[in-house]
Amino acid sequence: MQENNQPKFFGRRKGRIIRKTKSTLLESFLPAIKIDENTVFDKETMFGKPVKKINLEIGFGDGVHLASQALNYPDIGFIGIEVFKNGVANLLTLITGIKDGKDLPDEIKLLENREDNIRVFDDDARLLFDKIPDGFVDRVFLLFPDPWPKKRHASRRFVNPDNLKALSRIIKKGGILRIATDHKVYKSWTLRTMHNCPDFKWTAKTSADWRNEPSDWVKTKYQQKAIREGRKPVFFEYERV
Ligand SMILES: C[S@@+](CC[C@H](N)C(=O)[O-])C[C@H]1O[C@@H](n2cnc3c(N)ncnc32)[C@H](O)[C@@H]1O
Repeated sequence: MQENNQPKFFGRRKGRIIRKTKSTLLESFLPAIKIDENTVFDKETMFGKPVKKINLEIGFGDGVHLASQALNYPDIGFIGIEVFKNGVANLLTLITGIKDGKDLPDEIKLLENREDNIRVFDDDARLLFDKIPDGFVDRVFLLFPDPWPKKRHASRRFVNPDNLKALSRIIKKGGILRIATDHKVYKSWTLRTMHNCPDFKWTAKTSADWRNEPSDWVKTKYQQKAIREGRKPVFFEYERV
């Protein structure tokens, strides 16, 4: 913890210069879908229409997986969390169709084929957990989290007992936590840490269940990078028991 009682964050909050179009999206469109201190976590009211299920993606990166899942499952409400501003900006281009260099319309809207079923928390996920009611979430995606492979950085890994405690509270019984990684150290770390957490049960019956992509899978940027560089991703699914 830092002096201000906030957990210390070790990753990047901002990268390359964000160009005009994306900056405008962050200023003018993000507030319409942003989770802030006034957000009420209510499945009836927090999205454009009532939803029965909530999926949560932690560290959505450039937003491709989140944007595709939300398009493929219009009846589910998606909460996306990403602390990296450039990633949030990229998600906004995907869901509005407004790319860099394109003229901005008078009113920025979601693409016509999309439901209003994404809400975004643009800060550290650990600051949001306490605000989410017990059992509110059906499914959590934690895809290619930063591996922090050095032993002295192990406490920075997102899969850790404190975060699992928070996730086990907000995921409903029977809900799913999906963790994908391509990093050798993180694979064994995840298996060990999850094994020690009595709130979750590994659902795999055969090795194909964790070696192959799940049926609703959308390839993420980091997954594609891993494949290009010859690493083999794994897909672990845990049920909240
Ligand atoms: C290695 S990248 C993977 C991005 C994406 N999931 C993918 O597979 O392409 C990890 C992402 O998690 C984000 N992240 C790490 N810790 C986070 C936290 N505590 N809260 C929110 N986002 C976080 C980082 O900013 C980064 O974008």
